[in-house]
Amino acid sequence: MAKAQMIFPPDFRWGTATSAHQVEGNNTNNDWWQWEQEGHILEGHRSGLACNWWENAEADLDLAAEMGTNAHRLSLEWSRIEPEPSVFDMAALDRYRQILQGMKERGIEPMVTLHHFTNPLWLTEKGDFNSEIVVSYFQRYAAKVADVLGDLVPLWVTINEPMVYVFLRYLEGVFPAPKQYGWGAAMEAVRNLLKCHAAAYHAIKEKQPQAQVGIAKNMAVFAPKGKGNRLARWWAGRVSWIFNDLWMACMTDGRFRWPLGRHRLPHLADTFDFVGINYYTRYYVNFPPVGGLVAEEWGPDAVVSDGNYGEVYPEGLYQVIKRVLPYQKPIYITENGLPDAVDRLRPSFLMTHLRQVWKAISFCFPIMGYYHWSLVDNFEWDRGWTQRFGLIEVNPDTQERRWRESGRLYKEICHSYSLSSDMAERYAPELMETMFPGQSPPAKNAPSISELAPTSF
Ligand code: FCB
Repeated sequence: MAKAQMIFPPDFRWGTATSAHQVEGNNTNNDWWQWEQEGHILEGHRSGLACNWWENAEADLDLAAEMGTNAHRLSLEWSRIEPEPSVFDMAALDRYRQILQGMKERGIEPMVTLHHFTNPLWLTEKGDFNSEIVVSYFQRYAAKVADVLGDLVPLWVTINEPMVYVFLRYLEGVFPAPKQYGWGAAMEAVRNLLKCHAAAYHAIKEKQPQAQVGIAKNMAVFAPKGKGNRLARWWAGRVSWIFNDLWMACMTDGRFRWPLGRHRLPHLADTFDFVGINYYTRYYVNFPPVGGLVAEEWGPDAVVSDGNYGEVYPEGLYQVIKRVLPYQKPIYITENGLPDAVDRLRPSFLMTHLRQVWKAISFCFPIMGYYHWSLVDNFEWDRGWTQRFGLIEVNPDTQERRWRESGRLYKEICHSYSLSSDMAERYAPELMETMFPGQSPPAKNAPSISELAPTSF
C-alpha cells in the first residue's frame, strides 16, 4: 500500500533542546548546585557530572547529527562566564565557542538561551530578581556574550519560561529559595525579569542587529475541573491569562498592568522578534483553588506520563499556537516532550504533536521549527534523574548512551521531513486509524470478496 505522508517545508528546523545546568556537569558556582547539596532534590539526587557536556558535548552532538537534526537549543551558564561580578572567564567563553563551532560543523544551527533557571551564587547573594541591580548585571552579561559569541548565534532566547521560574521559586518553593518569598516577591521578580529581558534584547541587537531575539514562553492549556462549574471556568481563564498572556502583553506594548501594577517602559515595547513556545500539557484548575493552583486530577481516559508529570494532550499544542498568532511573529516550538523512561508513549507523542505542527503549517501559520525536549536524558531540576525526557537514554553513572525507539523514529522524521503512515505502522500502530484513516493494511485473514458479497440481490 502506498504510504501517506504529511510533508514539512524544506527549510523547517528539526531540533532538540537542552539547558546548561542539566547537561554540562560540575556547575558548582550556581544556586542550583548549592540547592542540590542541601538535599532538596527528589531521592537526594544531584546533577554531578550531568551528561558531561562541559568535557564532551561533541559526543552527543554527533548523535544529534546522526539523528538528522539541523537545529539545537542550548543555554549558557552565567556562573561559568562571569564567576565573579565583572570578571569574565575567557576560557569558559572559548569552550562555548568550541561547542557552537562544533554545531556549525555538523550542520546544526544553535539557538542560545541566556538564562535557563540558574543564577551565579554572587548574584543570589545580592538578591537576584528581587533587586533591580540584576538588570544592569544581566545587560552586561548579554552584551558580553553577544560580542564574543554572536557571530555563531543567529537566534537568541533571553529568558527561559519566566512565569514557570517565578511560580516554582516564589510560590511553590521547589526551586532554590529566594531571599523573599510569596506573591509580592513573585510579582517583583516578574517586573525585574521583564526589565532584564528588555535590556538583553537591546544589548544583543546593538552588537548584532541581524540577530533574532525572542523568549521561550511556557504556554499551557488550563481547563476547568468540571465543565459545568462556572466559577472554575472563570478561574481557569484568569490563571491562563496570568500564566500565558501577561508576560506577552507587557513585552508587546511596554506596559506593566494588573497584577504587576501600572507603569510604562517604552524600551520594553516590541522586544521580541519571534515567539518560542514550550508546550507540555493541559492543567485542570479548581475553584476555590484548594490544595494548589492546579489540581492533579485527570479524566478517566487521560494518558499520563511518568511520575504523574502531565496528561498527553497534543491538541493543546495547536491551541497554544493559535493563542500566539495575534503577535504576528515567527513561531518556534522551543520545547515539547515528556518523561517516559521506557518509551511507552514517546513514539506516539512525537507523531501526534508533530501532526499538530503540520496542521498549523498547512494553515500557513509561521512555524519555523520544532525542538524536542530533550536530545538526551538529563538532570530534571527538583525531580533529579527520576524523570527521563531523552530521545537517547543516558546512564548518569557510566555515561553510556542508548537510542530509544523514539530516537530512531525522530531520526526517520528528520531525515524525511515528514510523518508517514509507514512510520505510524512501525512505531505507533494504534495511531493508524486516527492519523492515516484508510491506510491500514488488510488484516492477515481478511475475508474474501465472495465472502463479503451479499448472497442474493
Ligand atoms: C521545562 C524546562 C526544561 C525542562 C523541561 C522538562 O519547563 O524549561 O528545563 O525541565 O521543562
